Amino acid sequence: IEDQTVVVTGGAGFIGSHIADALVSDNDVRVLDDCSTGYRENIPDGAELVSGDVRDEDVVSAAVEDADLVFHEAAEVSVQRSVEQPKRSNEVNVGGTLNVLEAARDADARVVLASSCAIYGVPDSVPLSETERLGPRSPYGVDKAAIDSYAEVYHEQYGLETVALRYFNAYGPRQTAGEYSGVISIFLDQARRGDPITVEGEGEQTRDFIHVSDVVRANLAAATTDAVGESYNVGTGEETSILTLAETVKRAADSDSDIVHVEGREGDIPRSVADLSKSRESLGYEPTVSLEDGLRTLVDDE
Ligand code: UD1
Repeated sequence: IEDQTVVVTGGAGFIGSHIADALVSDNDVRVLDDCSTGYRENIPDGAELVSGDVRDEDVVSAAVEDADLVFHEAAEVSVQRSVEQPKRSNEVNVGGTLNVLEAARDADARVVLASSCAIYGVPDSVPLSETERLGPRSPYGVDKAAIDSYAEVYHEQYGLETVALRYFNAYGPRQTAGEYSGVISIFLDQARRGDPITVEGEGEQTRDFIHVSDVVRANLAAATTDAVGESYNVGTGEETSILTLAETVKRAADSDSDIVHVEGREGDIPRSVADLSKSRESLGYEPTVSLEDGLRTLVDDE
């Protein structure tokens, strides 16, 4: 991808900033971000920052004007917070995406958007293929199911080139370790401090942990594929229990932390792992980073 005008919403955040990094040397990159959970320092040199909230239609249309390509990563990513504030989550995640899709219609830009495996909810069986029935179990999952469907409908109704990427559990540098952050950044933080590693519930629940560099690869493939108007799983196909994760993080960080069990989450998803057949076939997507390697580089780099 080169000589394109590219917008990355959420480009100051975790995944968005890595996408911006990958494109900034050969393209005009505009980051739309309100820096509410992202950081200005994450934005690569050479990218332009448009400060604003995706809920603001005027800001979004100004940012997307003349764009060729939009990566829509801005979102309220916390499942927990969506449970506490479902309406706010919908306004950011669904309302914000509609602003992006409308602006992209005006600009005739391709939109690659961040969907989520949370839309599958509690699956009948794993691995999860894209044809699995959707059954979101959280407001966040409902939001992502809606935008995943909007992407398809905008392609069918208006001919917009859209690709929805159903991210499994992404991790890597710049994922913050706050109250609302992903389990890997939380465990790593605990392991480093020597604090107890807090496994919620038995720890038998599983996830498919994907390194952000592989998420970026999937995005770049989605930007050029002919197979638009479709949704794709973006994971590794490897299923890891939270307890195994705790042990693996402890080892990677060479930590003495105890592994403790705390109360499990209401409505937590018991099993999650991606079937990658469709992404392999249509995007030529192949994960490259194992969990062990990804964790080790994370420990070494930070
Ligand atoms: C995450 C993402 C969401 C994404 C989804 C895809 C975050 C904040 N959320 O939600 O944006 O769309 O994956 O499935 O990254 N856990 C512990 N101890 C802790 C923290 C978490 O045991 O201290 C457990 C949780 O109970 C859960 C698992 O780890 O079973 C994963 O939790 P989390 O990282 O918050 O991710 P998801 O809820 O899967």
